[in-house]
Amino acid sequence: MQTFEGQQVLVVGGTSGVGLAAAAGFAAAGAEVTVVSRSREKVDEALKSLGDRAHGRTLDIRDDEQVDRFLAAAGAFDHVVVSAGVTPTGRADTLPLPDAYAAMDSKFWGAYRISRQVSIRPGGSLTLVSGYLSVRPGRASALQSAINAALEALGRGLALEFAPIRVNTISPGLLDTPLWDGLPEASRESMFAATVQKLPVGRVGLPEDVAEAILYLAGNAHSTGTTLFVDGGGSIA
Ligand SMILES: NC(=O)c1ccc[n+]([C@@H]2O[C@H](COP(=O)([O-])OP(=O)(O)OC[C@H]3O[C@@H](n4cnc5c(N)ncnc54)[C@H](OP(=O)(O)O)[C@@H]3O)[C@@H](O)[C@H]2O)c1
Repeated sequence: MQTFEGQQVLVVGGTSGVGLAAAAGFAAAGAEVTVVSRSREKVDEALKSLGDRAHGRTLDIRDDEQVDRFLAAAGAFDHVVVSAGVTPTGRADTLPLPDAYAAMDSKFWGAYRISRQVSIRPGGSLTLVSGYLSVRPGRASALQSAINAALEALGRGLALEFAPIRVNTISPGLLDTPLWDGLPEASRESMFAATVQKLPVGRVGLPEDVAEAILYLAGNAHSTGTTLFVDGGGSIA
């Protein structure tokens, strides 16, 4: 198993779903992990499962000043993962414009705010989390496709700008995470069932599937500027 012993890792959005699974993976591999997200409750809950060496802070990545203050005080990390953001689904002709701007502000500009300011030690890495809609748009997700494609392009560009710090993007497919908790159970189940029918791997993804890939990219010294799809074949289905 890859070791991150003695390394410091920041997981933005590390209190739920993909981010929490990545934080748990890094912690199990010996890292000292810091998780941040907006909700105090989620931070406290995540810390209970991450062990004594984990730290947690509330942070809203939509807020320039909060991000400035947090990163100025946080010091440097060896590896940073950004797995935060909220992007409502909706056709471009019906999704209200303020909601569309808010989605971009949360997932794209949030990742950009963190990336441009976080201090990463030599030999370290930054991993962004996008989504397979970047290359496989749906019928009500043009905006999400654009946000995810923008993140993947950002990752490639930052890999040049920040070199020798390595920058990569993970692009998940549909995952069973708390992201979908707001949907009525029947709708969620039918969305998962329809996806299982289409996917070559025959199951919906788990946060741990994606976390494993995040740890791989953080640990692989020859990977940078890449987008790794962990989508069960969703982008070719
Ligand atoms: N689940 C899927 O099917 C799927 C598919 C493709 C791509 N993705 C992408 O994968 C990433 C992680 O998704 P997930 O499924 O793990 O979602 P999740 O379980 O809802 O976790 C999202 C995390 O981000 C935090 N967060 C949200 N907005 C934030 C903000 N403004 N500032 C700081 N933290 C914020 C949340 O905590 P707080 O609420 O406390 O802020 C939470 O810790 C997202 O970018 C998502 O778009 C997910």
